Amino acid sequence: MSNAESRPAEIVPLAWDTQQFGFPVARLQAAGLATSEIERLIGSAQAAGIEMLVVTTGPQQELANETLYRFGGILADDKVTFERSLADDTPLRLAASTDRYDEQACIGPCELDEYLADERLAAELLGLSLASGQYSRFRVDRRFPRSAFETLYRLWIERSVRRELADVVLVARAADRHSALAGMITVAVAGQVGTIGLVAVAEAARGQGIGTRLIEAAHDEMRRRGAGTARVVTQLVNRPACGLYRRAGYRLAATERIYHFWPRRAAAA
Ligand SMILES: CC(C)(COP(=O)(O)OP(=O)(O)OC[C@H]1O[C@@H](n2cnc3c(N)ncnc32)[C@H](O)[C@@H]1OP(=O)(O)O)[C@@H](O)C(=O)NCCC(=O)NCCS
Repeated sequence: MSNAESRPAEIVPLAWDTQQFGFPVARLQAAGLATSEIERLIGSAQAAGIEMLVVTTGPQQELANETLYRFGGILADDKVTFERSLADDTPLRLAASTDRYDEQACIGPCELDEYLADERLAAELLGLSLASGQYSRFRVDRRFPRSAFETLYRLWIERSVRRELADVVLVARAADRHSALAGMITVAVAGQVGTIGLVAVAEAARGQGIGTRLIEAAHDEMRRRGAGTARVVTQLVNRPACGLYRRAGYRLAATERIYHFWPRRAAAA
């Protein structure tokens, strides 16, 4: 909900996050609010014992350094949403560049197939899930416990494999390395929109077109399930991911800044 709607801005407790992380978490949609009002609201969260306050603003709205300093805030994420139409099913061009291609590390030919719902969660798949979150605000913000980040991304892949958070999980297996996992992607379709959740390629296999092949296979799955639009969320600082999506025909659809405030710790400092 945006502040453009007539509701007054307020601190909204986040029940799932609070339960999951074990400390009180709340959010404030601050797009368009004046600095004094934002500070007043963060102060009220501080007084209410909120440990972590997630503050979102529009892409052009930068919070003042003074506000960040006073309430223990950092810019944790420039969140970007990419979209593309699925009407055009022309095959994607595979990565052309050879400068990132390392013959030594080359993982060789890969096969794509579905990771079945009853398969045990392979350690490699968990590793790819954590890699997918490398620029996540829960990892970037060092005050957020590393174990909580890892639990979050473990849960995400476990629930995707169980098909609770995804309709399909695809993996790339290296044919000449005893089917070692070279990459994975998760896809969920709701109505007309297919969303990519997690996507990652093993470090040794990057820059060889596997990410592009996974995206293409994800699009096929989305079309099969009736989607007309593909969507993916990432972080602006994640240059490889943004490059991958742009090259696969995606365009920027929305941007949002996400700040993390730890007001109680700032008060204690
Ligand atoms: C993002 C990622 C999946 C790309 O996979 P990949 O197999 O290396 O991608 P491809 O080889 O198909 O490359 C496709 C395009 O992506 C972009 N790209 C890939 N690696 C890049 C890099 N290091 N820097 C800049 N652009 C890059 C390029 O535009 C490339 O096309 P080009 O080679 O013709 O320039 C991979 O880097 C990765 O696993 N990163 C860590 C996990 C992650 O951040 N996931 C995204 C979560 S939102």
